[in-house]
Amino acid sequence: MQDQPFNGSLPAQATDVAARWDIFYWFLVGVSVFFFVLVVGLMIYFIIKYRHRPGRKAKYITGHHTLEIFWTAVPTVLLMIIFAWGWVVYRDMVRAPSGAMEVRVTGKQWLWEFQYDDGRTLVGDLFVPVNTPVKLIMTSTDVLHSFFIPNFRVKQDVVPGMYTTVTFEATIPGMHQVYCAEYCGGAHSGMLGRVIALKPDQWNDWKRGKEIKLAGLDSPAGTGGSEPAAAGGGGQKGASPLVTQGKKLMAAKGCVACHSDDGSKKIGPSYKGIFGSTEEMADGTKVEVDENYLREAILNPQAKIVKGYEGVVMPPFQGLLSEDELAALIAYIKSLK
Ligand code: CUA
Repeated sequence: MQDQPFNGSLPAQATDVAARWDIFYWFLVGVSVFFFVLVVGLMIYFIIKYRHRPGRKAKYITGHHTLEIFWTAVPTVLLMIIFAWGWVVYRDMVRAPSGAMEVRVTGKQWLWEFQYDDGRTLVGDLFVPVNTPVKLIMTSTDVLHSFFIPNFRVKQDVVPGMYTTVTFEATIPGMHQVYCAEYCGGAHSGMLGRVIALKPDQWNDWKRGKEIKLAGLDSPAGTGGSEPAAAGGGGQKGASPLVTQGKKLMAAKGCVACHSDDGSKKIGPSYKGIFGSTEEMADGTKVEVDENYLREAILNPQAKIVKGYEGVVMPPFQGLLSEDELAALIAYIKSLK
């Protein structure tokens, strides 16, 4: 990224969120410098002004209400501003706009695996189109990892047993380094990846299975990564391979005995239209059906019982499905709008 403008000590700003984080960062630096100078400056001034001199007796001061209110109120307001500002940018980092392109990310000791809707799975390289929102749905097969793209100012823990998400919209085409930012064992520092942001024509080529020549980059796709499956994935009509795999699994694992995909009521709730809906549980609580809810409902069905299905027992699938199979099942349920 040597051809990009220098931004203080910070890496390139390859998303809009990156620029917003940087403004926030410089605000924090500014506030810190201001108070450092104020506090240390006054301290030095007082040390000199009120130093011990013969014949001068110190005053005994027990308190000063106005001053105390002032130094409580100002930091409180300042910290609330910092909280609200940080929260607003954070929210835009983790919550994807609807219609974002989804890629599933699996962290494992010690590599990153990227799984696309069309069934392609790449190790180490994440190809994305520029100026397109991308949502990463991430999990880990072993320990805690953290997915970090410095150029995008995007970082999120990757946790075994649940999904976490981040979203970004790359604005600079080219290669962006990915790090693991959570110590995860011996080869933690080698748990690297690359985001390769492609211009629209390159992206279309890549989707058609063409190899992408990355001009100006030392090594083209191939840092331990499996090559994208050549051709084959052409037409966009019909279900994606991941959805098809999910549908097959539904039959193979016996799910279809109790769950329909057309809205009709069997022993359990139908999958149709369930994703994104809000369901009422037997105990009256309302739950939004997202990836994490579906994950729990498959692996540990007794954790939350949907109202009207009390007493219905579904076997837990904990330990019986791989992360890839689980991703396919969830993709299938999501496809049933
Ligand atoms: Cu994975 Cu550190």
